[in-house]
This record gives sequence, structure tokens and C-alpha cells, in this order.
Amino acid sequence: MASVLVVGGGGREHAIVDVLSRSARVGKIYCAPGNAGIAQQAECVPLKDTDVDGLLQFAQAKGIDLTVVGPEAALAAGIVDRFRAAGLKIFGHTQAATAIESSKEFAKQLMLRSHVPTASYCAFREFSQALTYVRAGSFPTVIKYDGLAAGKGVVVAADLAEAEAALRDMLLDGRYGEGKVVIEEFLTGPEFSLMAFVSGRQVCPMVAAQDHKRAYDGDKGPNTGGMGAYTESFATGKSGLSFISDEEYDFAVTHILQPVADAMADAGTPLSGVLYGGLMKTPSGIKVIEFNARFGDPETEVVLPRLESDIFDIFEAVADARVIPAPTWRDESVMGVVLASKGYPGSYSKGAPIDVGPDFGERICHMGTKRTDEGGLVTAGGRVLMVIAGASTMSEAARRCYAAVEKVHCDNLFYRKDIANYVL
Ligand code: AMP
Ligand code: GLY
Repeated sequence: MASVLVVGGGGREHAIVDVLSRSARVGKIYCAPGNAGIAQQAECVPLKDTDVDGLLQFAQAKGIDLTVVGPEAALAAGIVDRFRAAGLKIFGHTQAATAIESSKEFAKQLMLRSHVPTASYCAFREFSQALTYVRAGSFPTVIKYDGLAAGKGVVVAADLAEAEAALRDMLLDGRYGEGKVVIEEFLTGPEFSLMAFVSGRQVCPMVAAQDHKRAYDGDKGPNTGGMGAYTESFATGKSGLSFISDEEYDFAVTHILQPVADAMADAGTPLSGVLYGGLMKTPSGIKVIEFNARFGDPETEVVLPRLESDIFDIFEAVADARVIPAPTWRDESVMGVVLASKGYPGSYSKGAPIDVGPDFGERICHMGTKRTDEGGLVTAGGRVLMVIAGASTMSEAARRCYAAVEKVHCDNLFYRKDIANYVL
């Protein structure tokens, strides 16, 4: 039986640990740093996800057979390159390949070269040039910091004043560090997430999911890391989303994910992990909003429960740069509701006690929780828990999910009451 190390400590990693624990080939699971929920299924190791030296030493000392990387920061820090150089097996992209997420301009140039549909753009380092460009354009316009900004480096500016403030923040005040901005055409339409396991030129798409990025019901309020997600059964088609037809799903795989995998391989930086397409169904077809070089969070928590195949076989094939055994998916609708600390995505307090009833009955992924010295469960982050339920129909999944949410008692959490309403 293999021993596996999962790097990261959020809901996404809890979902990964959960599917790994179902694998016939996996014995011991470690997770660094993990969280209070993950600790029920894996041994948590107090190492930060970017502590590459510490993680490498740990993996060597424990004879870890396979390491699986969750967060982009660890990938961008070169964890995969270091593990491979030391002869260790690891699932995730190299530092060079992670540029598909860590540099917006790199991603845009690659899309342009490969004829992948996306918003038109211009990149700037100079504040005055960027300002001249937005002045000459129309509004709304989209301004993105060209680097990792924990999902916060995007401003949809309604007018010149908002655009100028964003440019000032990013180019003059160094809010996210040194760097350029990408200014994009504003696109409209429903967004969805399509992830794939990629081994070089081989792309194995997962079922698609939709994330709910705004904090409050009715898509109101500030952007967050994601307040809930869902994926629908095959009764609505093969994509996993009723508003994405089979043809649109095939288009996204053939004309978006595949050309990116090919271009990365051609450039000598092949992909070896998850490629996440943040896509939009616009009036003129499916277009790319962004790529990520990792599993999405919270999409992973609803997509992976549908995976029928043994995920260890997939991870190992990718880590070995071998052909991935084609994954199969359960015909089930799954949805998940995020419970977040009041105040999130702004400032919030931590340490509120959480009581999850004993007869909970549904899956729960911990996103930001901790045990106190006395053993009590408390909040320890912005997004705290995600409650997940699957059923043959989305309405039944929603009913069960919200019934379970009611069983979580904590006076400092809030959640959206309209997850998956779009398709109900
Ligand atoms: P990103 O981090 O690139 O996914 O952007 C965050 C959010 O900003 C997206 O989920 C979209 O809602 C919005 N956004 C980004 N780019 C565009 C665009 N070109 N047009 C319209 N909305 C966008
Ligand atoms: N759910 C969006 C992301 O993982 O970036």
C-alpha cells in the first residue's frame, strides 16, 4: 500500500484526502499542514505548503510514495522541480508550467498563439501608459494584476475613476508587489469551471462545475474565493451543467484545454497536473476568463465525489508522465454550500466554537478550522466549512445539503441560500 503526502490545508485538500482514502492502493495519508477536519482522515504535519525544504525532508524521511500538491503557491515555489530532482514522485506542475496561472500575460500570449478564444487585452508596466489606454477605451473594463494575488488581483472597473484607482493600487502603490497589469475587454455571460487531469499532451476532462463567487445571495456583494458550487447529473448532458451543451463541452476540451496542453508541451514545459479553465459562455461562444494550474476550490469538493475511478492511478500516471487511465464519473448531482466567517471576504474574527450535530449524515469539508487545546472545534479562516450532498436530482441534493447546513451551530458563520438556484 502506498503512502501519500497531500500538500495544503483547505477544503480542496480535504476533498483530495477523502478520495485518496477511498483508493484501494493507498495506505497511510499525511497532509501538510492539513486542518481539524482533515486530521480525522489523515495525519497532519505542521509544515507550511511553501516550505519546500521541510516538505522534501519529510517525504524522504517517511519514504512517501507520492506527493499531491493542492495550492498554487507551492507549485509556483518550485516544489515539483525540487521533488523530481530528488527522485520523488509528485503530482503537480513544474514552476515553469505553473506560469499558466501565475502570469496572466504568459497565459494571454499562449492563448493568442494557440487561437484559444479569450478577451482581447493589452499589458502595461507604466501607470501613465495604462491610464492613457483605459481613457481611450470603453467601460466597464477589466484590470488584472499580472501575478499571484490570491484571487484578489482583478478589478472590473465601471468608470475611469475606478480604473484609475485600480491602476494606482497595482502599478504605483505596489499592492501585490512589483509587476505589470493586463487590461482586458469586458465579457458577459454565465461562468463555469472545467478542470482536466493533464499528462503532457493528454487531456482527461472532469465534469464541469459552477462556482458562486459573490459573497451574498443573488450574486450581490464582493468577490470571494467561492461561496458554493454544484455539478449536475448526466440527465442534462455530458458536461455536468445543463446550460453547457455537449457541443460546447467538446469545444472547450478541443479548442481550449487541448491547445493549451499542446502549446505547453511544444514550449518544453509540459503540464503534469490539473489544468483549470475558468470559462464564460458569452454571446459569441465559450471564452477563457483565466487558467489555474491546480484544482479549484470549492469546485473540487463537488467534482471529486463523482469520480468513480481510483484517483491514485490517475495521480501516479501523471506523476510518471504516463498515459492516464480514462476517468469515469458517477451519474449524480452534487452541490456544496460554504459557511464563512461573518465579515468575509473583509476582516473577520477567528476562534468561534463550532458544533456539528452527531447525526450529520452528509459530507463536510473543512476549509479553515482548528482544534483548541481542550479539543473543541473553532473557526480559523474566512471560509470555514463546506457542506456537500449528492443525489440523483439537483433539487434533492439541495434539499439534503441545506438540511445538513442547519445542523451546523456556530454564531459567527454565514452562507448563501441560493447555491445552484440557477438550475433549480
Ligand atoms: P479571474 O481571477 O481572472 O477569474 O477574475 C475574477 C472574476 O472577475 C471572474 O470570475 C469574472 O467574474 C471577472 N472577470 C475577469 N475577467 C473578466 C472579463 N474579461 N470580463 C468580464 N468579467 C471578468
Ligand atoms: N474557485 C476558483 C478558484 O479555485 O480559483
